[in-house]
Order: sequence, then structure tokens, then C-alpha cells
Amino acid sequence: MKGIILAGGAGSRMYPVSQIYSKQLTLIYDKPLIYYPLSVLMLGGIKDILIISNNETLPQYEKLFGNGFQLGLKIQYAEQKEPNGIAESFIIGEKFIGKDSVSLILGDNIFYGNIDFFKRALERKSGATIFGYRVTDPERYGIVEFDSGGNATSIEEKPSSPKSDFAVPGLYVYDNQVVEIAHNLKPSARNELEITDVNKEYLKRGQLSVEKISRGIAWLDTGTPEALLQASNFFGAIEARQGLKVACLEEISLHMNFIDAAKFRVLIENMPSCSYRDYLQKIYKDRAK
Ligand code: G1P
Repeated sequence: MKGIILAGGAGSRMYPVSQIYSKQLTLIYDKPLIYYPLSVLMLGGIKDILIISNNETLPQYEKLFGNGFQLGLKIQYAEQKEPNGIAESFIIGEKFIGKDSVSLILGDNIFYGNIDFFKRALERKSGATIFGYRVTDPERYGIVEFDSGGNATSIEEKPSSPKSDFAVPGLYVYDNQVVEIAHNLKPSARNELEITDVNKEYLKRGQLSVEKISRGIAWLDTGTPEALLQASNFFGAIEARQGLKVACLEEISLHMNFIDAAKFRVLIENMPSCSYRDYLQKIYKDRAK
């Protein structure tokens, strides 16, 4: 299973800071936003990852993660020249995907809580799995409608009269058909290759599973300054209460056995003195307990 993080977009709702750096590098409490979606792929056991962004921002991700070796990952980078839509990821990433299945996560999507729903989706051998999450503002998202048996019957992108309150979060799991499906898409009215059209095609083929995400999981929006502040406050509160960090990539690598304790120690030694380093030092010391 390959993983793609799409961290593009104009980010115009984040003006003026959008003039100088991309939203996915914004600090959410104590780490850049992109750490959160990357942590989800890692917790799903995905190590082979492609980060797609624009030319200006790619060097900054490369500075953050390099080739991923230090985290036990293999990270590659690719450019999306224009914001042509989410589904273009599978055309840009065609070579990277090869004959594999692929999971795509949007670089501004944050999930917090037990991610078994994602792990179950990764175990499916064929078809596509997307998720449904109840929201109060369904007109802003891809919306899935269910019949009384809980089966998906329709999916619409940002409908003005939504047929349900279940939004489709920016986390998707596809088999290899997605590459061919993406190649055959036509741009939408907003001139984008829509991920919703990919999902509609799987639905038409009778190969789409839609799993509802339970209310115990947080799916946070990071589209506006208010939403970013809410997310920072949310993670600040949790981390202060538990003394445990969320989306701490080094800790996750150790936990997932992507790296051993010796390599973890080297990561710590290469960090400047800061609370993030102190935290990892504590994890290192406590690991045998
Ligand atoms: C995109 C998708 C939409 C999905 C949303 C999740 O919306 O098009 O279907 O529900 O991501 O974040 P956009 O980011 O284009 O507003």
C-alpha cells in the first residue's frame, strides 16, 4: 500500500500568510499541520509516501522530511503545477503507485482518536473505501447519502441542498483501478478533477464501501484562521492534560518499529534543546518500563 499526501491548493482563505507559505506548514499547537495527516498514514503502517505540492513549497517539505530515512520512511516528492483538483494526484503519482493500492490523505485533514476505521479499510483487497462523518455544514463538502440499510446511494460535491449530513473526509483508500479512473475524468464546472467523481465511478461499479466514522473520533477542519486556532487549542489541551504528544512522528516511528531505539536516539541528538526534544528524551527513557 502506497500513501499520497496532497498538500497543494492556493490557500487563499489564509491570506496574508498564504503569500509566503502554504497552509500545511502552519503551526498546529506545536508542530506543522502536515505532521497530522502524515501521522495517520504512518499509524496505518504505510511507509512509502509521495508528497504532492507546488514547486514553491516542495523544497520546504524536503527540508522537513528529506527522503524520510530518519523516520524509517521512504518519502518522495512531486509537483502539481496548477490546482487542477484532488483526483489529479493519481495521474501525477501514477509511476509512484505502480501496480499497488493507494491511500490518499489531504494535507489539511486532521483525525484524532482510534483509527481502526482506517486500518480496516487498508485490509480490503479490492475496490475503494471512503468515510462518512457527520457535520453541521454539509454544503462545504462531498456528501454521501445512505439508504435505510446503511448503503451509499449517492455522492455529491458541495451540494446546495445536501441529501444528508455525512461529509466525506479527505482520507481515501483505493485499489489500482483509481489510476485508470482518474485518467478518464473530465474537469468539473470549477475546472478541477474531482475526487467525488472518482468515488462516484467506484459506486457505479458497485465497488465502493463507505464507512461511517463514529462520534468518538475528531475530524478537524483547518480551512480558516478560526479553525486553525480551534485545532491548536484542541491539541494544546489534550497534550497538556496527558503529557503525551499527538502526531509526534519520531515517537510513532519508534512505536511502529519503523526505527529502533538506537536510531531514535540519533534523532533526539540531532535536535536543538526544546520541549519537543525533552519529550522524546522522556519517551526514550520510559520505553523499557
Ligand atoms: C475536498 C473534496 C470534498 C471533501 C473535502 C474534505 O474539498 O472535494 O469532497 O469533502 O475535501 O476536506 P475542497 O478541499 O476542495 O473544498
